[in-house]
Amino acid sequence: MKKSGFWSASIFSFLLMTALTVSLPSQQKERPAEEQATIKQGGSLPAALDALYPPKAQGPVFLIKMIGLAESFSGTVSDLLEKDLPNALAGFEKFRSQYSELSGLVPEWKSLYPMAPVEELGAALKAGDQGRIMGAVEKVGGVCSACHVENMPRVQSRYGWPDFSGIKAKDPLTGEEVSLHQLMVFLDISYSGVGADLERALLRVEAEDLRGVLAGDLDEALERQLALVDAL
Ligand code: HEC
Repeated sequence: MKKSGFWSASIFSFLLMTALTVSLPSQQKERPAEEQATIKQGGSLPAALDALYPPKAQGPVFLIKMIGLAESFSGTVSDLLEKDLPNALAGFEKFRSQYSELSGLVPEWKSLYPMAPVEELGAALKAGDQGRIMGAVEKVGGVCSACHVENMPRVQSRYGWPDFSGIKAKDPLTGEEVSLHQLMVFLDISYSGVGADLERALLRVEAEDLRGVLAGDLDEALERQLALVDAL
Protein backbone atom coordinates (compact mmCIF):
# COMPACT_ATOMS: atom_id res chain seq x y z
CA MET A 1 0.00 0.00 0.00
CA LYS A 2 1.24 3.49 -0.80
CA LYS A 3 2.11 5.75 2.11
CA SER A 4 -0.88 8.04 1.57
CA GLY A 5 -3.22 5.04 1.26
CA PHE A 6 -1.89 3.57 4.46
CA TRP A 7 -2.41 6.79 6.37
CA SER A 8 -5.89 7.42 5.12
CA ALA A 9 -6.86 3.83 5.99
CA SER A 10 -5.45 4.21 9.52
CA ILE A 11 -7.11 7.56 10.05
CA PHE A 12 -10.38 6.21 8.69
CA SER A 13 -10.37 3.20 11.02
CA PHE A 14 -9.48 5.43 13.96
CA LEU A 15 -12.34 7.80 13.16
CA LEU A 16 -14.72 4.89 12.75
CA MET A 17 -13.76 3.45 16.14
CA THR A 18 -14.06 6.84 17.82
CA ALA A 19 -17.42 7.42 16.15
CA LEU A 20 -18.63 4.05 17.45
CA THR A 21 -17.46 4.86 20.96
CA VAL A 22 -19.38 8.11 20.89
CA SER A 23 -22.50 7.03 19.04
CA LEU A 24 -23.26 3.65 20.63
CA PRO A 25 -24.15 4.81 24.15
CA SER A 26 -26.18 7.76 22.84
CA GLN A 27 -28.15 5.48 20.50
CA GLN A 28 -28.84 3.07 23.34
CA LYS A 29 -30.19 5.84 25.53
CA GLU A 30 -32.99 6.48 23.04
CA ARG A 31 -34.15 2.87 23.05
CA PRO A 32 -36.65 1.49 25.56
CA ALA A 33 -35.03 -0.51 28.37
CA GLU A 34 -36.69 -3.75 27.29
CA GLU A 35 -35.35 -3.52 23.75
CA GLN A 36 -31.93 -2.54 25.06
CA ALA A 37 -31.73 -5.76 27.04
CA THR A 38 -32.46 -7.84 23.95
CA ILE A 39 -29.91 -5.97 21.88
CA LYS A 40 -27.35 -6.37 24.63
CA GLN A 41 -27.01 -10.11 24.37
CA GLY A 42 -28.71 -12.88 22.50
CA GLY A 43 -31.47 -10.91 20.75
CA SER A 44 -35.12 -11.67 21.51
CA LEU A 45 -35.15 -15.21 22.87
CA PRO A 46 -38.13 -16.95 24.51
CA ALA A 47 -38.29 -16.25 28.25
CA ALA A 48 -38.91 -19.97 28.91
CA LEU A 49 -35.25 -20.65 28.12
CA ASP A 50 -34.15 -18.84 31.28
CA ALA A 51 -35.48 -21.70 33.39
CA LEU A 52 -33.31 -24.16 31.43
CA TYR A 53 -29.96 -22.45 32.06
CA PRO A 54 -28.03 -21.28 35.11
CA PRO A 55 -28.50 -19.45 37.40
CA LYS A 56 -32.13 -20.66 37.48
CA ALA A 57 -31.24 -24.24 36.52
CA GLN A 58 -28.42 -26.33 37.97
CA GLY A 59 -26.81 -26.73 34.56
CA PRO A 60 -27.46 -26.09 30.85
CA VAL A 61 -30.56 -28.36 30.77
CA PHE A 62 -31.58 -27.42 27.22
CA LEU A 63 -28.10 -28.04 25.81
CA ILE A 64 -27.81 -31.41 27.60
CA LYS A 65 -31.17 -32.48 26.16
CA MET A 66 -30.02 -31.40 22.68
CA ILE A 67 -26.91 -33.54 22.99
CA GLY A 68 -29.11 -36.49 24.06
CA LEU A 69 -31.35 -35.91 21.03
CA ALA A 70 -28.33 -35.86 18.71
CA GLU A 71 -27.01 -39.09 20.25
CA SER A 72 -30.18 -41.06 19.61
CA PHE A 73 -30.53 -39.55 16.11
CA SER A 74 -26.98 -40.39 15.06
CA GLY A 75 -27.25 -43.79 16.79
CA THR A 76 -30.29 -44.55 14.62
CA VAL A 77 -28.43 -43.48 11.50
CA SER A 78 -25.33 -45.52 12.31
CA ASP A 79 -27.47 -48.64 12.95
CA LEU A 80 -29.08 -48.02 9.58
CA LEU A 81 -25.71 -47.82 7.88
CA GLU A 82 -24.84 -51.17 9.48
CA LYS A 83 -28.17 -52.50 8.17
CA ASP A 84 -29.21 -53.26 11.76
CA LEU A 85 -32.89 -52.42 11.37
CA PRO A 86 -34.16 -53.69 14.78
CA ASN A 87 -31.70 -51.47 16.69
CA ALA A 88 -32.34 -48.58 14.31
CA LEU A 89 -36.04 -48.84 15.17
CA ALA A 90 -35.31 -48.98 18.91
CA GLY A 91 -33.02 -45.93 18.60
CA PHE A 92 -35.69 -44.13 16.63
CA GLU A 93 -38.32 -44.68 19.34
CA LYS A 94 -35.98 -43.09 21.87
CA PHE A 95 -35.28 -40.21 19.49
CA ARG A 96 -38.99 -39.68 18.86
CA SER A 97 -39.83 -39.37 22.55
CA GLN A 98 -36.88 -37.03 23.21
CA TYR A 99 -37.94 -34.90 20.22
CA SER A 100 -41.52 -34.58 21.44
CA GLU A 101 -40.33 -33.78 24.97
CA LEU A 102 -38.06 -31.02 23.62
CA SER A 103 -40.88 -29.62 21.50
CA GLY A 104 -42.86 -28.88 24.66
CA LEU A 105 -39.97 -27.38 26.61
CA VAL A 106 -39.99 -23.92 25.03
CA PRO A 107 -43.61 -23.17 24.03
CA GLU A 108 -42.60 -20.33 21.64
CA TRP A 109 -40.54 -22.82 19.62
CA LYS A 110 -43.14 -25.60 19.38
CA SER A 111 -43.71 -24.98 15.66
CA LEU A 112 -39.97 -25.45 15.04
CA TYR A 113 -40.33 -29.15 15.89
CA PRO A 114 -42.71 -30.39 13.17
CA MET A 115 -43.84 -33.98 13.80
CA ALA A 116 -44.46 -34.88 10.13
CA PRO A 117 -40.79 -35.51 9.12
CA VAL A 118 -40.27 -37.61 12.27
CA GLU A 119 -43.42 -39.67 11.64
CA GLU A 120 -42.31 -40.17 8.04
CA LEU A 121 -38.95 -41.49 9.26
CA GLY A 122 -40.77 -43.92 11.58
CA ALA A 123 -43.00 -45.13 8.75
CA ALA A 124 -40.03 -45.54 6.38
CA LEU A 125 -38.13 -47.52 9.03
CA LYS A 126 -41.08 -49.82 9.59
CA ALA A 127 -41.35 -50.34 5.84
CA GLY A 128 -37.62 -51.07 5.73
CA ASP A 129 -37.28 -49.05 2.52
CA GLN A 130 -33.65 -47.84 2.47
CA GLY A 131 -34.17 -45.07 -0.11
CA ARG A 132 -37.21 -43.70 1.67
CA ILE A 133 -35.42 -43.92 5.04
CA MET A 134 -32.48 -41.85 3.83
CA GLY A 135 -34.77 -39.19 2.35
CA ALA A 136 -36.60 -38.98 5.68
CA VAL A 137 -33.32 -38.75 7.66
CA GLU A 138 -32.31 -35.82 5.50
CA LYS A 139 -35.64 -34.06 6.15
CA VAL A 140 -35.28 -34.48 9.91
CA GLY A 141 -31.70 -33.17 9.68
CA GLY A 142 -33.10 -30.14 7.85
CA VAL A 143 -35.42 -29.43 10.80
CA CYS A 144 -32.43 -29.44 13.17
CA SER A 145 -30.28 -27.15 11.09
CA ALA A 146 -33.10 -24.69 10.31
CA CYS A 147 -33.46 -23.96 14.01
CA HIS A 148 -29.69 -24.00 14.64
CA VAL A 149 -29.00 -21.39 11.98
CA GLU A 150 -31.66 -19.13 13.46
CA ASN A 151 -31.19 -19.65 17.18
CA MET A 152 -27.97 -21.39 18.16
CA PRO A 153 -25.64 -18.37 18.05
CA ARG A 154 -28.10 -16.23 20.01
CA VAL A 155 -28.56 -18.89 22.70
CA GLN A 156 -24.80 -19.41 22.96
CA SER A 157 -24.28 -15.68 23.18
CA ARG A 158 -26.80 -15.23 25.98
CA TYR A 159 -26.11 -18.30 28.11
CA GLY A 160 -22.62 -19.35 27.15
CA TRP A 161 -20.77 -16.04 27.03
CA PRO A 162 -20.23 -13.53 29.82
CA ASP A 163 -21.56 -9.98 29.55
CA PHE A 164 -18.49 -8.19 28.20
CA SER A 165 -19.86 -4.70 28.83
CA GLY A 166 -19.18 -5.02 32.57
CA ILE A 167 -15.53 -6.12 32.21
CA LYS A 168 -12.85 -3.58 33.10
CA ALA A 169 -9.13 -3.83 32.45
CA LYS A 170 -6.04 -1.82 33.32
CA ASP A 171 -4.39 -0.15 30.36
CA PRO A 172 -0.69 -1.07 30.82
CA LEU A 173 0.52 2.22 29.34
CA THR A 174 -1.60 4.76 31.20
CA GLY A 175 -2.29 2.62 34.27
CA GLU A 176 -5.93 3.71 33.95
CA GLU A 177 -8.87 1.35 34.43
CA VAL A 178 -10.83 1.26 31.17
CA SER A 179 -13.67 -0.72 29.62
CA LEU A 180 -12.82 -3.68 27.42
CA HIS A 181 -14.09 -1.72 24.40
CA GLN A 182 -11.79 1.21 25.18
CA LEU A 183 -8.82 -1.15 25.57
CA MET A 184 -9.57 -2.66 22.14
CA VAL A 185 -9.63 0.83 20.61
CA PHE A 186 -6.25 1.59 22.26
CA LEU A 187 -4.89 -1.72 21.00
CA ASP A 188 -5.94 -0.86 17.47
CA ILE A 189 -4.24 2.52 17.74
CA SER A 190 -1.02 0.82 18.93
CA TYR A 191 -1.11 -1.61 16.03
CA SER A 192 -1.65 1.25 13.59
CA GLY A 193 1.42 2.90 15.17
CA VAL A 194 3.50 -0.24 14.57
CA GLY A 195 2.34 -0.25 10.96
CA ALA A 196 3.20 3.41 10.52
CA ASP A 197 6.70 2.92 12.02
CA LEU A 198 7.26 -0.07 9.80
CA GLU A 199 6.20 1.91 6.76
CA ARG A 200 8.62 4.71 7.66
CA ALA A 201 11.41 2.20 8.31
CA LEU A 202 10.83 0.60 4.91
CA LEU A 203 10.94 4.01 3.26
CA ARG A 204 14.27 4.73 4.99
CA VAL A 205 15.71 1.46 3.69
CA GLU A 206 14.54 2.36 0.20
CA ALA A 207 16.07 5.84 0.47
CA GLU A 208 19.43 4.35 1.48
CA ASP A 209 19.24 1.88 -1.34
CA LEU A 210 18.43 4.71 -3.67
CA ARG A 211 21.41 6.74 -2.46
CA GLY A 212 23.56 3.62 -2.96
CA VAL A 213 22.25 3.26 -6.46
CA LEU A 214 22.96 6.91 -7.23
CA ALA A 215 26.41 6.85 -5.66
CA GLY A 216 27.74 3.66 -7.16
CA ASP A 217 25.58 1.55 -9.38
CA LEU A 218 24.17 4.38 -11.45
CA ASP A 219 27.63 5.91 -12.06
CA GLU A 220 28.94 2.56 -13.23
CA ALA A 221 25.95 2.05 -15.47
CA LEU A 222 26.27 5.53 -16.92
CA GLU A 223 30.01 5.05 -17.56
CA ARG A 224 29.34 1.82 -19.41
CA GLN A 225 26.53 3.39 -21.39
CA LEU A 226 28.82 6.27 -22.44
CA ALA A 227 31.50 3.77 -23.39
CA LEU A 228 28.94 1.96 -25.52
CA VAL A 229 27.87 5.18 -27.24
CA ASP A 230 31.56 6.00 -27.88
CA ALA A 231 32.19 2.60 -29.36
CA LEU A 232 29.28 3.06 -31.76
C1 HEC B 1 -36.14 -25.25 18.17
C2 HEC B 1 -34.77 -25.15 17.83
C3 HEC B 1 -33.91 -26.37 17.71
C4 HEC B 1 -34.21 -27.56 17.06
C5 HEC B 1 -35.45 -27.94 16.30
C6 HEC B 1 -33.04 -28.40 17.24
N1 HEC B 1 -32.08 -27.75 17.95
FE1 HEC B 1 -30.29 -28.49 18.52
N2 HEC B 1 -29.84 -26.75 19.46
C7 HEC B 1 -30.65 -25.64 19.50
C8 HEC B 1 -29.98 -24.59 20.22
C9 HEC B 1 -30.55 -23.21 20.50
C10 HEC B 1 -28.73 -25.10 20.62
C11 HEC B 1 -27.63 -24.37 21.39
C12 HEC B 1 -27.74 -24.67 22.85
C13 HEC B 1 -26.58 -24.13 23.66
O1 HEC B 1 -25.48 -23.99 23.14
O2 HEC B 1 -26.78 -23.87 24.86
C14 HEC B 1 -28.67 -26.46 20.10
C15 HEC B 1 -27.59 -27.30 20.29
C16 HEC B 1 -27.50 -28.55 19.76
C17 HEC B 1 -26.34 -29.41 19.89
C18 HEC B 1 -25.06 -29.06 20.63
C19 HEC B 1 -24.10 -28.44 19.65
C20 HEC B 1 -22.89 -27.84 20.27
O3 HEC B 1 -21.88 -27.78 19.57
O4 HEC B 1 -22.94 -27.37 21.41
C21 HEC B 1 -26.61 -30.57 19.21
C22 HEC B 1 -25.67 -31.77 19.04
C23 HEC B 1 -27.94 -30.45 18.65
N3 HEC B 1 -28.46 -29.20 19.01
C24 HEC B 1 -28.57 -31.40 17.90
C25 HEC B 1 -29.84 -31.28 17.35
C26 HEC B 1 -30.46 -32.26 16.50
C27 HEC B 1 -29.84 -33.58 16.07
C28 HEC B 1 -31.68 -31.77 16.18
C29 HEC B 1 -32.73 -32.36 15.28
C30 HEC B 1 -33.07 -33.72 15.41
C31 HEC B 1 -31.82 -30.47 16.82
N4 HEC B 1 -30.68 -30.21 17.52
C32 HEC B 1 -32.93 -29.67 16.71
C33 HEC B 1 -31.89 -25.51 18.95
C34 HEC B 1 -32.56 -26.50 18.24
